[in-house]
Amino acid sequence: MALVPLKRRSRRGGAQAGALSPPAGPPDSGPFPALVLYLVEKRMGASRRAFLTQLARAKGFRVDGAYSAAVTHVVAEQNSGAEVAQWLKQHQVDPGAGGDPALLDISWFTESMRAGQPVEIQPRHRLVVTAPAAQRGRQMAPYACERCTPLLHPNRALTEALETLAEEAWLSGSEGRSLAFTRAAAALKALPGQLETMGELESLPGFGDHCRGVIQAVLEDGVSVEVERVRLSERYRTLKLFTKVFGVGVKTADRWYQEGLRTLADLHNTRLTRQQQAGLQHYEDLTTPVGRGEAEAISREVQAVVQQFLPGASVTLAGGFRRGKPHGHDVDLLLTHPEDGQEAGLLSRVVSWLDSQGLILYQHSQENSYGPREGAKPPSASGHLDRYERCFSIFRLAAPGTHRGWKAVRVDLVVAPASQFPFALLGWTGSRHFERELRRFARHERKMTLNSHELYDTRQNLSLPAASEEEIFQHLGLEYVPPEQRNA
Ligand code: CTP
Ligand code: MN
Ligand code: MN
Repeated sequence: MALVPLKRRSRRGGAQAGALSPPAGPPDSGPFPALVLYLVEKRMGASRRAFLTQLARAKGFRVDGAYSAAVTHVVAEQNSGAEVAQWLKQHQVDPGAGGDPALLDISWFTESMRAGQPVEIQPRHRLVVTAPAAQRGRQMAPYACERCTPLLHPNRALTEALETLAEEAWLSGSEGRSLAFTRAAAALKALPGQLETMGELESLPGFGDHCRGVIQAVLEDGVSVEVERVRLSERYRTLKLFTKVFGVGVKTADRWYQEGLRTLADLHNTRLTRQQQAGLQHYEDLTTPVGRGEAEAISREVQAVVQQFLPGASVTLAGGFRRGKPHGHDVDLLLTHPEDGQEAGLLSRVVSWLDSQGLILYQHSQENSYGPREGAKPPSASGHLDRYERCFSIFRLAAPGTHRGWKAVRVDLVVAPASQFPFALLGWTGSRHFERELRRFARHERKMTLNSHELYDTRQNLSLPAASEEEIFQHLGLEYVPPEQRNA
């Protein structure tokens, strides 16, 4: 479909006339006098814009280099309707001077060039302008990645009820049902005030009858009978107990339950993997929340070792702590080096050294399995959201003042090359639901595939590079959401 190879990225954004920008076109002339085109440079790039301008002019179209009230058709590429509308608002020469141009996707332009005349505008050509959530009456944006979700919110009782049902559904293997409860809870977490009436649910996305019923019960009676029944059920309590053992998933926990096992003591009589043995052995420590101070201490410890083996390499605390949580179930650390390739082999040396010092109680590592162009296939291999070299471990953290003098802490170490680091950071900051929503938004709204390695535009068959998380949000046409607002 593209007429010339697409420009990856224009560093010089904006519409200011530069060396490559086309000059203003002649006043009303040519075969289509009712038409005045304007091409938006953002994401199209200056050189492609100049090329398309020339092409259209050669076919008799009037294309203006500067935006004015005379423009009838605004054509953009890889921009959302909201972005183009925002741009127009900023560049309106004289807001009073009329001018209500059609906002069109490049597809209209391409088809018109092929036809040699302007084709009729179809709905699919139009860029849909949806105002930011705040301006859209009281309707909340449908995807969690379009909203700000702070860590603390005023609807805790409601979200906890829904999340109990989400967890129960997950423990029963009903992922779809679990997701529906999680989505509803996530919407409530983004509400600035306390929900007081059922009517207020109208503005929230994702509330079906079941979720409504639960909310109604909690609003009216203070509790939902269904939720309380789940909380007290033997199956729910046992499966929760078992899945909190490091290395135990829903399937295993469910099998043990079917076999009649009920307590941690019962697990000593069953066959366990090496990982599960470690999980059981350190169960108490691993289910005691990790504090921010402990996470930072581990991060510094790893940083020192990393520096020793590869000067210039860095360690970044990701996961819940990056989102501002004061506690977590583990410590997620991302390792990288400014020069691509230098990071190779780093992790095994770091882990071996820590191990030799007696600082690691358990670890299993995985090699990097990410090859060039593999990103087009979503890396969906069982449970692994990405293919970076990584290590799942249990650290022995010094804990002065405790009877043993140390504490077992779960630590995830992940290594990303610099060119993929922003994707790794975005992917490992979470929350899990926020990540899922980002990928769903990319797929359904942008026809792009996002994972922790890259963002791939399937319409143009190209990978969109990014030097920061902000640039990834820009590529997606999303407002930047800072980590502490990703607590969906
Ligand atoms: N993650 C991942 N691949 C995995 C495990 C986790 O990409 N195999 C990502 C998750 O998507 C999540 C982030 O890493 O966004 C952190 O995961 P996790 O530690 O499980 O959750 P936290 O949000 O950090 O919660 P907690 O504070 O309880 O650790
Ligand atoms: Mn974590
Ligand atoms: Mn983790």
